Amino acid sequence: MAYASVILTPTFKLSSSIGINPSGLCSPKFVPERVRCSATSPKSAAPRLVSKGCKLVGCGSAVPKQKFSNDDLAKIVDTNDEWISSRTGILNRHILTGKENLTSLAVEAAQKALEMAEVDADDVDLILFCSSTPDELFGGAPEVQKALGCKRNPPAFDIRAACSGFLLGLVSASCHIRGGGFKNVLLIGADCVSRYLDWTDRKTCVLFGDAAGAILLQACDSEEDGLYGFDLHTDGFGSKHLNAGMKHIETNMALGFDGDSLGFSPTHASISYIQMNGQEVFRFVIKVVPESIKASLAKASLKLSDIDWLLVHQANQRIIDHLATKLEFPMDRVISNVKNYGNTSAASIPLALDEAVRSGKVKEGQTIATAGFGAGLSWGSAVVRWG
Ligand code: ACO
Repeated sequence: MAYASVILTPTFKLSSSIGINPSGLCSPKFVPERVRCSATSPKSAAPRLVSKGCKLVGCGSAVPKQKFSNDDLAKIVDTNDEWISSRTGILNRHILTGKENLTSLAVEAAQKALEMAEVDADDVDLILFCSSTPDELFGGAPEVQKALGCKRNPPAFDIRAACSGFLLGLVSASCHIRGGGFKNVLLIGADCVSRYLDWTDRKTCVLFGDAAGAILLQACDSEEDGLYGFDLHTDGFGSKHLNAGMKHIETNMALGFDGDSLGFSPTHASISYIQMNGQEVFRFVIKVVPESIKASLAKASLKLSDIDWLLVHQANQRIIDHLATKLEFPMDRVISNVKNYGNTSAASIPLALDEAVRSGKVKEGQTIATAGFGAGLSWGSAVVRWG
């Protein structure tokens, strides 16, 4: 495995005050200080175990073939194009059907990211699969790894955090590179929320779509580090506003035996449809996300005016517009593709980034403020450089 070397000064001692700074931060102008590993260095506020940086060097995405317009939805539920487009900005979404599955979408996105990064699947050191809707209960990452044909058995595991999943994966990938010595980390955001929608509930079924997006993060010299700052949060008390709980169905009758003889009644689990209090989620997002972006910028010692692009989770256009307005960020530098795909959960940020990079909008060296938010309730932001 291609681990980067761990560089410690002779004065390094492990103590509770030493390690990876939870803020994760690095301002471009403070990079030389960030990489000092000595706890006793007079200049070092944040000692590090590894002197590596990480950068985003490849992206890719994939969506299912089947496209559904608002008019298509109006055929199955009491809604209409005018309501959906004016309330959400969504015109179309893609839904997994037939023989397509989430693994194949994720693999397609990952292959495109590897191709752009000019990295062979055999050189991937770690796969982080951000998904709350994998094809396999025990995690979708191993199947993705198998399909990619990574011969050196790199670790591959899931991160389950709904629409914040990609942000959490991005920060996790950077920590694995900076503090864990990994070199090429494949970060995939993929979700098939359509599997858990109640297609008779017009308040939720019109909002979502299925997709996958991927980024290849690569170790680099600390001076080139491309993750300038981040900020992450979860408020478990908010989960009542957005959830898809587990249902337990008793199976003893169906199996033809009496549960009493076992001392318990066997059950099998199934997942409830997504339940959402849209107005509460809207309020929560507008309150916490601008604060989080400002926190990431502060940690990066950057101002909003230093940022080239704002790319927040593509939940709906009204949320994106409100966030940009509250931040006083110019609309012409806000990335949005929600009209074509709906809310694609963990896939939405890498999908939008991939389109923006491939269309030439986002250029190498440009800075992006990005934010994820959703079930949990969870939210977070990061300031990154593309390339
Ligand atoms: N078509 C037509 N009418 C509808 C529809 C629909 N699809 N959905 C709701 N309505 C009706 C309601 O029944 C209600 O009618 P009533 O006044 O007769 O009762 C009316 O429209 C208003 O409903 P509200 O729910 O108040 O509509 P609102 O203006 O709040 O918009 C929306 C709903 C778009 C969901 C908004 O609240 C929102 O954007 N919330 C954020 C949700 C979100 O983005 N969540 C993603 C989180 S990410 C994750 O982790 C999954």
